[in-house]
Amino acid sequence: MRDYREYLDEILISEEQLQSRIGELGADISRDYVGQDLLLICVLRGGVLFLADLMRNITVPHSIDFMAVSSYGSGARQSKGQVRINLDLSTSIEGRNVLLVEDIIDSGHTIASILEMLSLRNPTSLRVCALLDKAERREVVVPIHYRGFTIPNKFVFGYGLDLDELHRNLPFVGVLRQDKIPELDQAG
Ligand code: IMP
Ligand code: MG
Repeated sequence: MRDYREYLDEILISEEQLQSRIGELGADISRDYVGQDLLLICVLRGGVLFLADLMRNITVPHSIDFMAVSSYGSGARQSKGQVRINLDLSTSIEGRNVLLVEDIIDSGHTIASILEMLSLRNPTSLRVCALLDKAERREVVVPIHYRGFTIPNKFVFGYGLDLDELHRNLPFVGVLRQDKIPELDQAG
């Protein structure tokens, strides 16, 4: 994988736009959870940059935990159906107010599976905060309580999102060049 510029069609969401919107999301969350317990759960690995910036904009006390899942047939550009837990939470969520922090919701299958699994553990509340919503691609209905941006049906990378595990560190969200899609699918 060479320089990210060879894969970049255009910057979809700039660093400034991301930071400004995350500030607003943090303010909304801080208002909604004032005086309440709050546990942020980050879905690895794509959600890490978003979690770190979101936390800095949340003014109410909160704790964090992490989980990692993979969809069956991962490596492909799309996920289908059930997911498997690769890394489980280190804390119990029973009786907690849980807010799931996700990078992107595409078909919705990943978050729907996670919500189903976590709801069996009896949290007091379970909500979703997603930075990016590829709404046109939705195949299952999922509640998104806090949404950063609705984006078009294009493959994006940067700000946590990878191109075959690279370029998560970029401070913006970029669109993958159309002619590079076959190359990456093969690398799968
Ligand atoms: P879903 O299960 O189809 O909603 O897919 C969600 C997961 O697919 C995300 O957590 C990402 O890891 C991945 N994903 C979906 N769209 C993109 C994209 O445009 N760029 C990078 N990863 C994506
Ligand atoms: Mg990925």
